Amino acid sequence: MQNKESFKPCDLIIYGALGDLSTRKLICSLYRLEKSGLIEEGTHITGVDLHAKSNEDFIQVARQSLDNFLNEPIDNKIWTRFSSRLAYLQIDLTQMDQYQQLNAIVDNEKRVLINYFSVAPFLFRHICQGLKHSGVLTKESKVVMEKPLGHNLKSSQEINDAFAEVFNEDQIYRIDHYLGKETVLNLLALRFANSIFTSNWDHNTIDSIQITVSEEVGIEGRWGYFDHTGQTRDMLQNHLLQILTFIAMEPPVNLEAKSIRREKVKVLEALRPITPSNVAEKTVRGQYAAGFLNGESVPGYLEEEGANTDSTTESFVALRVDIDNWRWADVPFYLRTGKRMQNKRTEIVINFKQLPHNIFKDSFQQLPANKLIIYLQQQEGVEIHMLNKVPSIDGNIKLQKTKLDLSFSEKNKEKPLFGGYERLILEAMRGNPTLFLSREEIEQAWIWIDSIQNAWSHQNEPPKPYPAGSWGPVASVALLARDGRDWEE
Ligand code: BG6
Repeated sequence: MQNKESFKPCDLIIYGALGDLSTRKLICSLYRLEKSGLIEEGTHITGVDLHAKSNEDFIQVARQSLDNFLNEPIDNKIWTRFSSRLAYLQIDLTQMDQYQQLNAIVDNEKRVLINYFSVAPFLFRHICQGLKHSGVLTKESKVVMEKPLGHNLKSSQEINDAFAEVFNEDQIYRIDHYLGKETVLNLLALRFANSIFTSNWDHNTIDSIQITVSEEVGIEGRWGYFDHTGQTRDMLQNHLLQILTFIAMEPPVNLEAKSIRREKVKVLEALRPITPSNVAEKTVRGQYAAGFLNGESVPGYLEEEGANTDSTTESFVALRVDIDNWRWADVPFYLRTGKRMQNKRTEIVINFKQLPHNIFKDSFQQLPANKLIIYLQQQEGVEIHMLNKVPSIDGNIKLQKTKLDLSFSEKNKEKPLFGGYERLILEAMRGNPTLFLSREEIEQAWIWIDSIQNAWSHQNEPPKPYPAGSWGPVASVALLARDGRDWEE
């Protein structure tokens, strides 16, 4: 991705600096950027939160975050440089007059103001108005925030309207942390830098596509958030749909944000709606029951701390998605994602079509079709499943299955691997919006998700139980079996 601006120093202000996201992820990511020399000289980082703290207290909080979550030894020289950038401001974010304090720290002449909203969405409007009220914003200022950006189309529009009252669209950086992952971005390279895939990437050669994002974790003490949200809003509306758009989109004219976003929106617009009349055959909702994961027994969803035992929230969803456009006519995309599944993995399986005629019946009555498997996490790489000849002097040609295996982790092991947040914070500092979501794509995704939620509410069926540590409810196997296919295991 190219730098859009000369990389000016920033006033990075983190609202909710004492909260979970900030102390687990943001502070560690900023430290790593510092270590790589990627934070511009003269950049200031200010934590804002409700509690009374001095600058020194906040520096202690930051140090504690690194001790707890950095996963590497802290380098004292880097720490000294990093901590010298840190400051703290106590602001009750619901009180407009308190935002005046920002004027004492923000210097728009020397630095670009970046406002990172690491807070619950109900505070978004307050902070936008507080910033406007304080007079610190300029046309150069930016705002960064992440999901949940709404619960449905309506609430998402309300959030976007709150931002639009104060910021122009080009000042708004909406994060989906999957777009900060090296391997997700590599999908662009794989598809658009390799000619073998340009001519083999449509309904003529592809039979079907699977996207699996399975997690081992349960809801990790987030009952309040998760039970109101469910796996469909938590993972499908954003991360899986983002992966799907990268796989399905037309080649963008270049890597500019507007070109890529335009192509992604076209895919989202072409998603065939799931309605009350087809929801039963196209979707499966599941909820984990107690089970075993990595040899340990784990509780079911309804036994988690703070659970409401009547909950019908889904922790798993599988569905058949059809894209109504020229390229993908009659190519089903099967998507599944769930918590407490057998292992953590994000992978894409491209199943190619069977050959029209088999001349190797001695080896296979039906020739297995080629597959391209793209592993995004935990393992990273690409595998192509092919057939080749068994070496022998025998007069017959016998075939065997083989895998062409490209593992990226081996090849890239000398290079520093950046986490999603590092990349996204850096891109926001650079002023490059390519890896962030536009209002249009978020709202388009909600339109499609809302229709599924609406269909489920008509169906009025509880989610199907599945044991923790499994691959989800058996109904998800049946979803593919009905089409004569099965999940790649
Ligand atoms: C978050 C979800 O967006 O993504 C979590 O809110 C989920 O519920 C997480 O566990 C998964 O992210 P990753 O990077 O671990 O795949």
